[in-house]
Amino acid sequence: MRDLLPGEIELWQHVEGLARELFGRFGYGEVRTPMAEDTGLFVRSVGEETDIVGKEMYTFDDKGGRSLSLRPEGTAPAARAYIEHAINNKEPITRWFYMGPMFRYERMKTGRYRQFYQIGAEAYGSKEAAQDAEMMDMVVQFLGALELKDVTLNLNSLGDEACRPAYHAKLVEYLQAHREELCEDCKRRMETNPLRVLDCKNPTCQAVAAAGPNVLEFLCEPCRAHFDDLQRKLTVLGIKYVVNPRMVRGLDYYTRTVFEFIASHPALGTASTVGGGGRYDKMMKGLGGPDVPAVGFAMGLDRLVLLLKESGRTFTSPPDLFVAVADEGSQDAALALASRLRREGLRVDFDTRGGSLKSQMKRADKSGARFTLVLGEAERTSGQAKLKPMAGGDAIPVALDDVAKTLRAARLATAQAGPT
Ligand code: HAM
Repeated sequence: MRDLLPGEIELWQHVEGLARELFGRFGYGEVRTPMAEDTGLFVRSVGEETDIVGKEMYTFDDKGGRSLSLRPEGTAPAARAYIEHAINNKEPITRWFYMGPMFRYERMKTGRYRQFYQIGAEAYGSKEAAQDAEMMDMVVQFLGALELKDVTLNLNSLGDEACRPAYHAKLVEYLQAHREELCEDCKRRMETNPLRVLDCKNPTCQAVAAAGPNVLEFLCEPCRAHFDDLQRKLTVLGIKYVVNPRMVRGLDYYTRTVFEFIASHPALGTASTVGGGGRYDKMMKGLGGPDVPAVGFAMGLDRLVLLLKESGRTFTSPPDLFVAVADEGSQDAALALASRLRREGLRVDFDTRGGSLKSQMKRADKSGARFTLVLGEAERTSGQAKLKPMAGGDAIPVALDDVAKTLRAARLATAQAGPT
């Protein structure tokens, strides 16, 4: 779990701001659910045999003796809220997004944290492939807005209750034949939930899984048609993807479509999956809610930020002006000037400690301010001052009443000149 401080937080705000704006364009409304939920919610949806529920949850009893867990993901809490507020009685299609911290007791490394942040979205009420395609389009546009390149969309279908049993049977038969190569957990999973063997992190289990039966060869006719339809629609939208029949995702609730966005940048190491999701048409009913199909995804905000950092772009906004005080008698006037400029929408830095002009100029330099204005008795009496450009060049004479206007014009000129 980490602290996020100014200097880095601007990157986070940039990503969050883009998501809010873009998801709004697609008709998604924001939901905020509690940080902790009844433990049973995750057991019944994400699945008892998954690493997330089996090993990684922060679970505790509250003072009333209820077992609660810090949310390890956002899909189950959103579904719980959808059911609790009977949203299906209010509208046939619902589009929600969320952003916030999730908690998993994982081994820390670059891009993998115990408190991490997701930006996710869920669409309820449509079982059509068009909904899946629209959702992937939203992620692609999001990554585009972030100017993140080299991210590959991986696609698969896990079938449904009609065709998955046959695949399961074949998988178990295959795993039985390789039983001795599997880790202890997988020997158990093979009996209880064989699909989970496919996302075991143990390299030997991964090798066994890689050579196993291909889920796509077991799809029934309706699942195959849904998958084909999705691929056609992605092509219509100009979205590139690769079909990856080995990808099963680490959560139990998926049926049919699953997808992951994988970045190739070395900065992420093995934590290269920047987002993932899929369809979960049976989950809502399984939780005791209405029979409503759904599809969703979540992006790992920490990982997106890591990639943005690598790109070297900066998102901090330096002050427009540093107000320096030439003499003690001008302190109040400087405070008032800074206040007035801030009220007018400008970013102003001001050292409340006063001190020598030299030390204030040092501070002005460090602040990254574009201009410095020295305010002393002469300026107060004449009502005239100078804006000193910190990057060098001639000082601009300015009436104290016109400082805001001049700084705004300077801002505009920089914006029009484009990034330096
Ligand atoms: P997930 O694949 O478990 O899916 O997580 C989504 C994303 O969260 C991952 O691709 C990764 O970028 C990020 N993430 C996961 N664990 C960590 C971690 N420990 N540290 C940093 N980032 C992490 C879900 O959570 C599903 N709820 C997605 C979904 C929504 N499916 C349907 N609707």
